Amino acid sequence: KLPVSIYVDDNTASVAVAKRIADLITANGAEGKHTVLGLATGATPVKVYAELIRLHKEEGLSFKNVVTFNLDEYYPMKPNAAQSYVAFMKAQLFDHVDINMDNVHIPDGTLAEDEIVPFCAAYEKKISSYGGLDIQILGIGRTGHIGFNEPGSAPNSGTRLVTLDDLTRRDASRDFGGKENVPTKAITMGIGTIFKAKQIILMAWNKKKASIVKKAVEGEISSEVPATYLQLSNNVEFVLDQDAASDL
Ligand code: GLP
Repeated sequence: KLPVSIYVDDNTASVAVAKRIADLITANGAEGKHTVLGLATGATPVKVYAELIRLHKEEGLSFKNVVTFNLDEYYPMKPNAAQSYVAFMKAQLFDHVDINMDNVHIPDGTLAEDEIVPFCAAYEKKISSYGGLDIQILGIGRTGHIGFNEPGSAPNSGTRLVTLDDLTRRDASRDFGGKENVPTKAITMGIGTIFKAKQIILMAWNKKKASIVKKAVEGEISSEVPATYLQLSNNVEFVLDQDAASDL
């Protein structure tokens, strides 16, 4: 059975997740080791990043030994575009901590089409070269996607170019001023990539996630709801607020 932790609200849940990340960074740093973080975008992890920034500013948490790999990026996407995940990560975390930007990795939305396959293979290799992801944090899309692994994704999938679901593009339309402006594709780590992480923490807040959370936790394991694959992992925990857990 999937371990599920339910918090009264997303603030307390986010602080708890940030503390786990910070404790690992601190423990590894004391031993001179890197901490390798798999990071997510979307509204869900924003308060985790805010707490990490607070711990940096007020409690001296250093990101000097932290290496990061983001789950995904729209394709095509210029890094300096307002909707890019590069811009998001800078605004929400990287610009406010002492991370070395050479240690930051985000799928490249500017590649030519024939560069994508080699880029994705190199992304996987790079993660492995650091000994794999120590912690991967995840949100969940209303299609049941993790990263941008939409329905139909294979459990052993690697980093690759994918086509976004119509519902995913509708959910993103506010950021882009209309669904027609949302890219139809993205580059995402695969389900297999995520599974290799030593710890996976999936977070979900609010009533609007309650039905997909129920499917992910209690539903039959199926490519129709890619998050159900997480039921097969021994290293996953769902961190929910009461609203997101209300259908369980
Ligand atoms: C996007 C991201 C996902 C994220 C999802 C949910 O599709 N690629 O990684 O989990 O949105 O977004 P939110 O956290 O805003 O609900």
